[in-house]
Amino acid sequence: MTAQQPCTTASTRQPTSRRVLPAIALLVTLAGGLIGAQAASPEGTWGPARPETLDAGLEARIDALMARMSLEQKIGQIIQAEIQHVTPDEIQRYGLGSVLNGGGSFPELDRRAPIAKWTELATALHEAARRPMAEGLPAIPLLWGTDAVHGHNNVHGATIFPHNIALGATRNAELVRAIARATAEDVAATGIDWNFAPTLAVSRDLRWGRAYESFSSDPQLVTELGRAAVLGLQGEPGAADWLGPRRVIATAKHFVGDGGTFMGIDQGDTRVDEAELAAIHGLPYPATIDAGVQTVMASFSSWNGTKLHGHRYLLTEVLKDHLGFDGFVIGDWNGHGQIPGCTVSDCVAALEAGVDMFMVPENWREFRTTMLDHARNGRLSLARLDDAVRRILRVKHRAGLFDAATHETRIRSTIDDHSELARRAVRESLVLLKNNGGVLPLNPSARIAVVGDGADDIGKQSGGWTLDWQGVTGTNESFPNGESIGAGIAAQVRASGGQVHLGENGLSEFKPDVVIAIYGEDPYAEGHGDLESLEYQAGTREDLDLLDRLAALDAPVVSVFLSGRPLWVNPHLNRSDAFVAAWLPGTAGGGIADVLLAGADGNARHTPSGRLPFAWPAEPLPADDGSFEALFDFGFGLAFGDPSSLDRLPETDMAPRAVSFVEQDNPVLFDGNAQAPWRLVLRDASSQHTIPAEGQIASTTGEQPLVVTPTDRRLQGDARRVNWSGSLGDRVALVSREPLDLTALVARGGQLVFETRIESGAPTPVELVVECGGADCPVTLPMSALVADTHNNWQTVRLPLACLGARGVDLSAISSLFSLRSATPAAVSFGAVRIEFGNAPDTGSAVCPD
Ligand code: BGC
Ligand code: BGC
Repeated sequence: MTAQQPCTTASTRQPTSRRVLPAIALLVTLAGGLIGAQAASPEGTWGPARPETLDAGLEARIDALMARMSLEQKIGQIIQAEIQHVTPDEIQRYGLGSVLNGGGSFPELDRRAPIAKWTELATALHEAARRPMAEGLPAIPLLWGTDAVHGHNNVHGATIFPHNIALGATRNAELVRAIARATAEDVAATGIDWNFAPTLAVSRDLRWGRAYESFSSDPQLVTELGRAAVLGLQGEPGAADWLGPRRVIATAKHFVGDGGTFMGIDQGDTRVDEAELAAIHGLPYPATIDAGVQTVMASFSSWNGTKLHGHRYLLTEVLKDHLGFDGFVIGDWNGHGQIPGCTVSDCVAALEAGVDMFMVPENWREFRTTMLDHARNGRLSLARLDDAVRRILRVKHRAGLFDAATHETRIRSTIDDHSELARRAVRESLVLLKNNGGVLPLNPSARIAVVGDGADDIGKQSGGWTLDWQGVTGTNESFPNGESIGAGIAAQVRASGGQVHLGENGLSEFKPDVVIAIYGEDPYAEGHGDLESLEYQAGTREDLDLLDRLAALDAPVVSVFLSGRPLWVNPHLNRSDAFVAAWLPGTAGGGIADVLLAGADGNARHTPSGRLPFAWPAEPLPADDGSFEALFDFGFGLAFGDPSSLDRLPETDMAPRAVSFVEQDNPVLFDGNAQAPWRLVLRDASSQHTIPAEGQIASTTGEQPLVVTPTDRRLQGDARRVNWSGSLGDRVALVSREPLDLTALVARGGQLVFETRIESGAPTPVELVVECGGADCPVTLPMSALVADTHNNWQTVRLPLACLGARGVDLSAISSLFSLRSATPAAVSFGAVRIEFGNAPDTGSAVCPD
């Protein structure tokens, strides 16, 4: 059996033959001999046709309502805007159908917004929609959607559950249902009606940056757990609390083939025949439609070259007509704009194909104008528009939104703490891959050291889609109810009379009996997580260096690996006596100690029960279809006491080490993303607080925050706009964790070069600050001395590093070479922060500023 594409669930079969073409094995099982058959109609390929079961009374109410609606209102209903880009008045005036909050978008941009701020905004938006429109037109309630993909993950203080891949390892549908139910309660409590979850992707390629949003590579397992999630979110169809006040509308996403793209490229092309599309990627849909799912999100990806947002056959003939889906199709974030011939603000084709509601976060005004114009001029089918509106109204009715009391009964002043449930999920999700010599479980009264950058970092252990889209802005204080993995271990060891040592400092003096190393992938979301190779830390090997240092201690090493997917870790396995795949566990970090540490009597308290939801690679480079040689097969997972004697594994495939920053030919600090070793952060005036600023919107808290947003210079999002309206003295900075010695760059004639655009009055009050070791640091240079006074134009700044030396900057210990600060309100953009060598060309100034 080849990697990652199992044809049965929950089996622990050992591999027999390698690199069998995965789809074929699967189709034999599922489609009983349908291999390769290209169906001309959904019959046979997508399973039996499902009849629609509409409620005649409800349809009659919708008819009556629609008869009173204006064309403008109908166009309004098919629009979903983002909460930062729309006001309650606009919702009322244009009769907009829906809003969403994108990942990392909070009421008033306050990342610590208390529940009351969410419910206030929800109430204001809902009330605006309920105010009668002009000329006695009917008021239509609003729907607010959010991505609560592992708990209510945009909300400060919410319990963050393990990501789907970890839930796939539990194989526990009842648990998934309970988590979805708890999530629904939290979402409903904030006045939000709709969750863009569950993801039903059957990820077939671990290079895909969304693999962790997928429960499994196995379509059956995804189906079983996806169905459970829908039932947990919405309730059981027919039951009294179905879509009741403590439930929310679910979304089956992303239809269809999102997990099958060529080489795992996000938003890419799924190149399979229809039988394989239906049997693998389509399998979860009929079951979730049966479970009552009310919305389906179209995928950004294509099927054999055609974007799903424009795929009439799949969205309309298969999903709606054949599978009997009678809710509505929501487009993904500007996804319609990717159809050839469409733009974000103009796209009839997606409506015609079957998208019912359009996620047009920012450009919805233009979209509204053009679509209205098309409708008036006959370029858009009014029958199709009516069908879309009817579907949206049907879901709003079913969800009780026409009853104003629903909103009032659902909002609450607090959300519950679900950490016990989350902790149980963490325990059940751990997969033990190696336990040589029966090192685990550990004696809790021993001397235990805990090291690694995952040991005390709740943001890291939670992964992407946590407090912001990429999951990079959370520090431990951002999770008031969270516990880091290391803190959980320390608490339990101390309670059992053992001794704990945290970190590498003083480690050899501590003389540990055992070392637990916690490390793994840093957070990412969507395409930002796409990989070319499955080698963990290809080129940098920081954690391998850590494991090598630990070897000197002569104590067994237990690795706890945090990751959104299986990765090639042969070198790490070789340097570990025990190895636990912990996925992205979320805020209940204590669940890991529950398993690793034995009870006081020496007996295990919880033996690991997680089973791999994806095969684990024995080689770093998969084939184009995502398959690889498996080191541990799908379904593998040891319990304590199982014989484990993993031999030394080959390490020959390791990528060469990357050249360090100072040795590079063209060192770049920032080109849209901060380049390692640099990170983009916000730092308050007193340097007490630093928050990562890689998110879409970053801001310090406070009445008038310092806000950093992506802006475009040459490419989308390749620059950042920084706006100080208050938070004066706060800085946005490119920092390095360890101070860097840049003297070699000075010797090469290096200059700090960046592009900037001054966006508020001259002379600009913004200052460039360099942070370094030494008494004269930090050194501050007024930007007005570096830039010409051309406003709103991009210009190049060149600053020879030697000039900084002359100013007293200690170039052997630079912690930030580029940071911006302003003591008065100001706005400025920057991009392409880099080092160039030699004499400056004729752009910009290369002289030392006064
Ligand atoms: C993602 C969706 C998500 C949407 C709204 C998109 O980028 O693909 O999964 O629901 O954004 O945040
Ligand atoms: C939003 C996400 C969204 C993504 C789509 C981000 O700005 O925060 O919710 O999924 O854009 O590209």
